Amino acid sequence: MLRAVVLLLISVAVGLTVGELDHGYKGYHIYEVTPKTLEQSQLLHQLSLDGYDFIKEGRLLGHSSRVIVSPAQFERFVKLVKSEQIAYTLLNENLGASIDEELALLKLQRRMNPITGKGRLSTERYYTHEEILNYIDDLAVRYPSRVFVKTVGWSYERRALKTITITNGDQRKGKKLIFVDGGFHAREWISPAAVLYIIDQLVEQFEQNADLLKDYDWIILPVVNPDGYEHTQTGTLARMWRKTRQPYGACYGADPNRNFDFHWNEEGASSSACADTYAGPTAFSEPETIVVRDLMHSLSDRGVMYLTLHSYGNYLLYPWGWTSDLPDTWEDLDEVARTGAEAIENATGTVYTYGSSTNVLYIAAGASDDYGFYAGFNVSITMELSGAGSIGFNPPVTRIDEFVTETWIGIRAMAEKIIEKY
Ligand code: ARG
Ligand code: ZN
Repeated sequence: MLRAVVLLLISVAVGLTVGELDHGYKGYHIYEVTPKTLEQSQLLHQLSLDGYDFIKEGRLLGHSSRVIVSPAQFERFVKLVKSEQIAYTLLNENLGASIDEELALLKLQRRMNPITGKGRLSTERYYTHEEILNYIDDLAVRYPSRVFVKTVGWSYERRALKTITITNGDQRKGKKLIFVDGGFHAREWISPAAVLYIIDQLVEQFEQNADLLKDYDWIILPVVNPDGYEHTQTGTLARMWRKTRQPYGACYGADPNRNFDFHWNEEGASSSACADTYAGPTAFSEPETIVVRDLMHSLSDRGVMYLTLHSYGNYLLYPWGWTSDLPDTWEDLDEVARTGAEAIENATGTVYTYGSSTNVLYIAAGASDDYGFYAGFNVSITMELSGAGSIGFNPPVTRIDEFVTETWIGIRAMAEKIIEKY
């Protein structure tokens, strides 16, 4: 009782509700909802603007979305889906317990399976940002003629942002380039895991991927938002963190994928610092997005494809995300995305939906894919990988391998198409 009163006072003082302060996702539910009419889809979208956390959003009719519903939101949610006859199923009855279990496993695995920072990283677990940096540093030492690591900037909390450039060792000028990044959104752990697999393929499995490096270099930034990524590994309440960690009043962080200066803070972004899609006080308020911007500009004359890995939902998305209009070259973008989707479906049966972000997902301005395309990359793709596990962002470690190899099949096919076309 006393604790509750103290919490209440503290939370009032810092402008938070008790719910936000110490809930640990206890009693939070996850629902899957599938709109069948435009009206239903619009009603669900309204919920996302009213603070419901949609961890997977589908906008096409008949495509499912997933939403976290807090005890405080529960009544309104159930009333709405019932009265509007929106199909819904309960996927998770106690998100807090699921997260606790996952984090306990993570800790156990780190203890049982410590890594030295030398040699290959397996797909058996998720890694810390530091482990990822040690890994790419080690690759640069082991493959000095083909692999180059560079510190390209620092996160808000002063973690190093490093790129790894992978070549076939021939220093010929005028090679084209593919730029890949991961870890924009903190909770999407499968994204850096997939990036590690790409690196492994291009570096350690060079023989079988040499065609991808003949006329192209690859430059890869494995974790754009390391502060957020590390934060999600610290405890139950932090696990669902999405944004960066720069403080803004009583809240933290901007959505790095709403922070780019191209139609910045237009539709699908929030001006409220506490929102998950906060665009930031200004465009490029986050040091992490400045790093990506500067890389894009420095690479754009050679850069053919920009690829950014998110989760989850199985989408291959191309510009625009700020408008439903399509760019002039949309047919080229569509061809590349379709190639990736077909390769994956043929290999594993997993269906990826492809199309322009706004048309197949939702409108969201200020994202990196639109910016990369505007900055001069011929093709710009956001890949939303597979989700699984009790919260979707936590594919069990036993399935990491399956998901990252599947992802690589799509990326490899898209890269081959790029090389053929450009
Ligand atoms: N899940 C991603 C996000 O919400 C999708 C971004 C798609 N691109 C876009 N320009 N809207 O950030
Ligand atoms: Zn994301």
